[in-house]
Amino acid sequence: MLFTNIFTASILLSSASCLPSSQSPLEESVANDNGPSPKYACENAQHVFNAIHGAMRQWDSSLKHNGMSYFAATIPNNTLLYHGTGSKEPVKTMEWLAFEIEHAEMFARGRRGGPGRGPGRRPPGEGPPGGGEPGNGAPPPPFTFMEEDSNAADENLEQHGYLHTYRTSRALTKLLYLDGMSAGKTSMGTLDTQDLVLGDPSKSPGSNPNGDYGRAQVLCAIGAEAGIEGFIRMEAGFELILCNFTDGLEFVSAFSRPDQNRGPGPGMSEMAQFEYVRGVAARYHGIGGGRVAVDYSSMVSAFFYNLNLTNPDPKKADLPRLTSTNPSEREHIKSDVISLFSPTNSQHTVIDWQGITDMIITRYSDRLQFLASNNLTNSTMLSEINFLLNVYIDYTNPTISTAIEKCTNIYLTPAIPATIADHLIHASLSAVSRQICSTLFEVRTILLSESTEAVEKVNQAVNDLIEYLDWPVWLECGKCAWDEVCFVAIWPWGAPEDHEKPGCRGFDDLRSRRGYWDFGVYEIGFGLLICGREM
Ligand SMILES: *[C@@H]1O[C@H](CO)[C@@H](O)[C@H](O)[C@H]1NC(C)=O
Ligand SMILES: *[C@@H]1O[C@H](CO)[C@@H](O)[C@H](O)[C@H]1NC(C)=O
Ligand SMILES: *[C@@H]1O[C@H](CO)[C@@H](O)[C@H](O)[C@H]1NC(C)=O
Ligand SMILES: *[C@@H]1O[C@H](CO)[C@@H](O)[C@H](O)[C@H]1NC(C)=O
Ligand SMILES: *[C@@H]1O[C@H](CO)[C@@H](O)[C@H](O)[C@H]1NC(C)=O
Repeated sequence: MLFTNIFTASILLSSASCLPSSQSPLEESVANDNGPSPKYACENAQHVFNAIHGAMRQWDSSLKHNGMSYFAATIPNNTLLYHGTGSKEPVKTMEWLAFEIEHAEMFARGRRGGPGRGPGRRPPGEGPPGGGEPGNGAPPPPFTFMEEDSNAADENLEQHGYLHTYRTSRALTKLLYLDGMSAGKTSMGTLDTQDLVLGDPSKSPGSNPNGDYGRAQVLCAIGAEAGIEGFIRMEAGFELILCNFTDGLEFVSAFSRPDQNRGPGPGMSEMAQFEYVRGVAARYHGIGGGRVAVDYSSMVSAFFYNLNLTNPDPKKADLPRLTSTNPSEREHIKSDVISLFSPTNSQHTVIDWQGITDMIITRYSDRLQFLASNNLTNSTMLSEINFLLNVYIDYTNPTISTAIEKCTNIYLTPAIPATIADHLIHASLSAVSRQICSTLFEVRTILLSESTEAVEKVNQAVNDLIEYLDWPVWLECGKCAWDEVCFVAIWPWGAPEDHEKPGCRGFDDLRSRRGYWDFGVYEIGFGLLICGREM
């Protein structure tokens, strides 16, 4: 059972495993009123661990879609980015850019069929990536979009869509990455780090997920003051809100798409949605090509603070929210995010914390599930445990506490914390690592006792550990057939079971999968919004 109340899990394990390293210099420096502290980094250790492992990865970020963290990030010089729109003119101001062609193609549509065109067509207040006009873009359409669209016609408006290609002309070094499904326009918590913290921390938590153009304007206004040039977010694909297209970006081309008035035409639509999902799935484990460098050592996370992150929706208890925090707490996070970009903020070495989480997960994820399978004999279990732990044990002088310490630190040794974030992350990752190591040594003790209940006790201990760790890798599908994709609920697609138990899905199967995401006012006030173009 992977979906657990995040708070019971941390209460259960925090006292034993949370011993921030004593040499940590920031005990005093940051543990002041409402500030980030190793204590909370430790209490939320597994969530920090999972956030680091999931950064810029579509798989983890889709399952843990309520991102609680911010990172500085860089896109290198000469990176290609795409924008779909209804105009061939190069964009000059703020707009959305997709990292994937498939993503931008969804927005490469003519301008006809703007607001008022009808439900299911083009909800207002949308943008990514493209949309052409303020408030007039569209989210990726549902799977039936092409068919619905094909019989509409209006001679007066641009009929062609355009796929724009841009290229960075320098490294974009002042970007803020918002983790989770941060471009998912839902009222489930995907937008909390934007709307409740960056937007206006003093506002009481509302629930209007729409108006992405207005949201982007707010972000860029903050960015103009703080020295942030763009924002990286994720929906079905990663995207960049770039605040000024004429600074650091070069227009490469605008290719027109087939005339939509006569329908998409044969061979132009049938596979488009499925192939889009296939393209998104190709980024499950990273966006690839070195296109984004995340500065883990700059992480600001709600998990570092003393906050009530309980989800008011008990059915979603495994997903944190910022709705129960107060304005001064949110203000504190916001100012910590902004100070990342302050010119006085000194240069630092970036520690590859994600690489460390990868080393830990690849060592243990399959082996923990193997130990938890309830048909192993005590001697198979003991062989497995000995294999895992022998490296830490000096058999002429076995001391369990020393062995646990060695086990805890083995993957953390190369990382020498320098920034405040480094120290907090170190506290989290070593707490997780210590939890794994002490559980495995406990399992070893149980097995060596040769008690008749050993097997059951081991299963219990390992399953508790698995529940605590809650690693998204355990929900992966394995290799799907060529005509299928491993499908997890990704805004705006997916049925509830696609979030709970992702599986291989074929082309026909994908069309009907919806219902997981809460679209906020879309569902209840669709017509009203069409007319109002509410922001
Ligand atoms: C970016 O790359 C282009 C092409 O290689 C080069 O001409 C340009 O000088 C680079 N920009 C910077 C700021 O290095
Ligand atoms: C965008 O960048 C260009 C080039 O640096 C600059 O001239 C222009 O004023 C900027 N626009 C805005 C709105 O900041
Ligand atoms: C935390 O927030 C939840 C949900 O809003 C609320 O039910 C609970 O009472 C809060 N806990 C504390 C300690 O304030
Ligand atoms: C042992 O149990 C696991 C599931 O817990 C199952 O996948 C596996 O096939 C079983 N192995 C044997 C030999 O029964
Ligand atoms: C396995 O369990 C049996 C009895 O349940 C016991 O006799 C045997 O010694 C155990 N073996 C190990 C390696 O613990």
